[in-house]
Amino acid sequence: MGASVIVQKTSQLSEKFDAGEPVVLSFYYHNKFNVQFLNSFITKILSRNNMLYLRDTILSVLKELIVNAVKANSKRLFFSSMNLNVKDIHEYSKGMKDFKAYIIDKKSLIEEELRNSDLCVKVYFKKNDEEFQVFVRNDCAMLPDEAERVRVRIEKAKQYTNFAEVYEDMTDDTEGEGLGLLLSVLFLKNSGIDPNLLKIVSVEKYTQASFVIPKMLKSELQKSHIQIKIMEEVEDLPSFPENILELIHMCKRNDVSIKEIAERIMLDPALSASVLRLSNSAGFVTRKRIDSVFEAVNIIGLKNLNMVLIASSARSIMSTRYSSFREVWNHCNRVAFYARNIALQKGYSKIADHAFLAGLLHDLGKIILLSTTARLAEWIADITKNREMRTSTVIEEISIGMSHSAIGAAVAEKWNLPHYIIESVKYHHSPLCSDPAFSNIVSIVYLANTFAGIEAGKYEYPYLEDDVLEMFDLQDEGAVEAFHGDIKRQYEEHIFIALSAS
Ligand SMILES: [Fe+2]
Ligand SMILES: [Fe+2]
Repeated sequence: MGASVIVQKTSQLSEKFDAGEPVVLSFYYHNKFNVQFLNSFITKILSRNNMLYLRDTILSVLKELIVNAVKANSKRLFFSSMNLNVKDIHEYSKGMKDFKAYIIDKKSLIEEELRNSDLCVKVYFKKNDEEFQVFVRNDCAMLPDEAERVRVRIEKAKQYTNFAEVYEDMTDDTEGEGLGLLLSVLFLKNSGIDPNLLKIVSVEKYTQASFVIPKMLKSELQKSHIQIKIMEEVEDLPSFPENILELIHMCKRNDVSIKEIAERIMLDPALSASVLRLSNSAGFVTRKRIDSVFEAVNIIGLKNLNMVLIASSARSIMSTRYSSFREVWNHCNRVAFYARNIALQKGYSKIADHAFLAGLLHDLGKIILLSTTARLAEWIADITKNREMRTSTVIEEISIGMSHSAIGAAVAEKWNLPHYIIESVKYHHSPLCSDPAFSNIVSIVYLANTFAGIEAGKYEYPYLEDDVLEMFDLQDEGAVEAFHGDIKRQYEEHIFIALSAS
């Protein structure tokens, strides 16, 4: 099965899931392909329900449960092929020693053996009005000892409140056994998901692990300390300066001349500089270098000047307040360029300039999130560095139970930005949830951002929603990749020309 099949299949499955039908996936083994399929499916069902910030939690927990289930199946096969009785204490401990060596040395053999057996792991997903339910089932029962160990581990894990405590405890545990389960419990807890809903039951024929993702997270009901801090931060943001608001208003009037507006801008040197900088930024309106404010206003027109004013005010407020501004803004510039070019090349040239501005502002929330949680991020990076976990905004969102899209939308609302920007900021990770009146621009920003994310190694092509791909006439992965390649090349050429001209 190729990646484009994944796009299609997981889009169909997530539609089915969204309609309330159960979805069942079967695995023999957790190979790269299965992981990719699962990531794609989870990304889509969470996106559709605007819960994407839970993705890393859900994927980590699921991966842990699947790995354990596969291991249990494989253990059963191993014991029967060795003619060992798992219930005999001596044979069990001998068998376990050999089994540990076996799973390390013979990975590919195990995959083949499992495939030829009738033992598989089934993952069930079901949605109702209040929650998502996830079950992972494998075809053998746990031994009483094993079940007891798991129970104790989960109970212990519930007592931890943060990563540091787990880490300290684990340094004594040379085997690191069960760390995955501990972290799963902690992830659920910090995501606002009740860890008591993580259950592992074992009956005669199978073992089943399950957990529940409520649509209304605990952290939404009961705001955490850090959430309150972030919302205060948004409330404290200054509004746009009075002269900018007046200028924005002037741009909408018919009786004001370009000369008048240019003169007004030139009274403010900082504003003049930022109008020039933005008018010259990659791909915005013209390739010609603009040297004076008058020229800028003349070339870009009053409608676009309106946008330049919004963007430069947002930029100056953000850059003076937040240390993480630069990092995010570079990404935003790329996304803005991509968004504009996607619009131009896919028949949406009427909204190309709006797409540019929406792309430029789409991650407003991330600037705030990263700056407000800088210490938290450092701490998490430290603790997770040996765990092959991605340290990203997503992990921070898990810890605070709030997405950067929601934070950004609150900022855009506070500043009374146009509706299309609020929608693009709010739904740039979940375009299918946006108001249909804005679905074109939101999907453009979503695609532009996903392209940039793929370049940064955050996403893969199969995560893309096929409804969006269809909208832009991108039929298969080859087409998506080629289109992305074109857009990226245009951006790099543009940057190169801009650099050599300055
Ligand atoms: Fe984002
Ligand atoms: Fe982004």
